[in-house]
Amino acid sequence: MKTQVAIIGGGPSGLLLAQLLHTKGIDSIVLERKTRDYVLGRIRAGVLEQGLVGLMEQAGCAERMHREGFLHSGTLISYDDQMFRLDFTEHTGRAVMVYGQTEVTRDLYAARDKIGGQVEFNVADVVINSAEQGPVEICYKIEGKPQKLEADFVAGCDGFHGVSRKTIPEDVRREYEKVYPFGWLGVLSETPPVNDELIYANSPHGFALCSMRNDQLSRYYIQCSMQDQPSDWSDEAFWTELKRRIPASEAANLVTGPSIEKSIAPLRSFVTEPMRWGRLFLCGDAAHIVPPTGAKGLNTAASDVHYLFQALTQFYTEDCSDGIDGYSEKALRRVWKTERFSWWFSSLMHRYPDQSEFDRKMQIAELDFLRSNEAAQKAMAECYVGLPY
Ligand code: APR
Ligand code: PHB
Repeated sequence: MKTQVAIIGGGPSGLLLAQLLHTKGIDSIVLERKTRDYVLGRIRAGVLEQGLVGLMEQAGCAERMHREGFLHSGTLISYDDQMFRLDFTEHTGRAVMVYGQTEVTRDLYAARDKIGGQVEFNVADVVINSAEQGPVEICYKIEGKPQKLEADFVAGCDGFHGVSRKTIPEDVRREYEKVYPFGWLGVLSETPPVNDELIYANSPHGFALCSMRNDQLSRYYIQCSMQDQPSDWSDEAFWTELKRRIPASEAANLVTGPSIEKSIAPLRSFVTEPMRWGRLFLCGDAAHIVPPTGAKGLNTAASDVHYLFQALTQFYTEDCSDGIDGYSEKALRRVWKTERFSWWFSSLMHRYPDQSEFDRKMQIAELDFLRSNEAAQKAMAECYVGLPY
């Protein structure tokens, strides 16, 4: 088989890139390790920056998002037993779209089907050859049968555990990582959200987040130990702990119910440089990971996809390589700003095992400053709604 752009990974990054390339008549084939149902079964965050909303519109996949998504103009932040609202729209003129990432991926698959775009599922043993000089040759297996795909370029959209990043030689790659000493225990419940907006809570008992998918589907998280297993937490224990981490006024309104999904996610900050090696370009979680506190995982994948889409379009339509030559530097410039915000917000909102009383006082002072200072609120709002591409 041959194509112009081979895309490793059928998650949101790979699918969004494929759909955008199609709008410019650029052919791609997506190679996905799992089945579509498996990919769609992943529960992920649900806050979209306007940049991603715009890309979904550009890709012709935004109709259901606009119909079923919710625009949020602010968020609530609580610490100890007080709460204040950060008004994004007042400070930036913009809002965020609350719409599950699973739904974004579902819409992208539907769009891929509609154009008859090729996705190979259950792909195994992917090896990317001659990525540095090109033409790229990708060898893989389906049901044990060897397959080969030749392409001009390959987009590594295969997430943190994929093969693309490791295709870049170790002596070329520079990796930066911070592992946080806690995880997030998440619960999905068919209950009405506790509030119309998200609540980020810093409490003496640890972090909590109240989010939602729609007016009858809520998503809640509490900071937990990395030694915990989901099975260590009964629904009752989860609800009890959540209630004591959010303001009493909110806890009184919390509608509890059986969890329909319960999982624990580790938190890490990670960046690999460069994001390009010859004809191989890394996008999304293949290149970087953020703690979920700022909901920046998918949104940072989206900005990578934007830059790569622009670069490949320039190459094929103007026979110009400036975009692909500048891709890594341009993408990383925004990646590191988002890594900083995600690290800062995580440091502000969580209880750290080794936290001293002074450290705790600094957290409270920072929250008091954020609560009372326009410039601090504007800075956070700019990062939360999304820095410019
Ligand atoms: N070959 C083919 N596909 C692979 C391989 C491989 N060797 N390794 C991984 N994959 C697939 C995974 O099965 C997954 O469907 O690549 C896809 C990567 O998708 P994500 O991990 O979702 O990463 P990305 O598309 O960059 O999305 C980033 O979405 O999943 C969230 O936390 C993530 O918010 C972040 C955003
Ligand atoms: C979610 O709805 O899953 C969510 C929302 C905001 C975050 C993280 C996760 O910061």
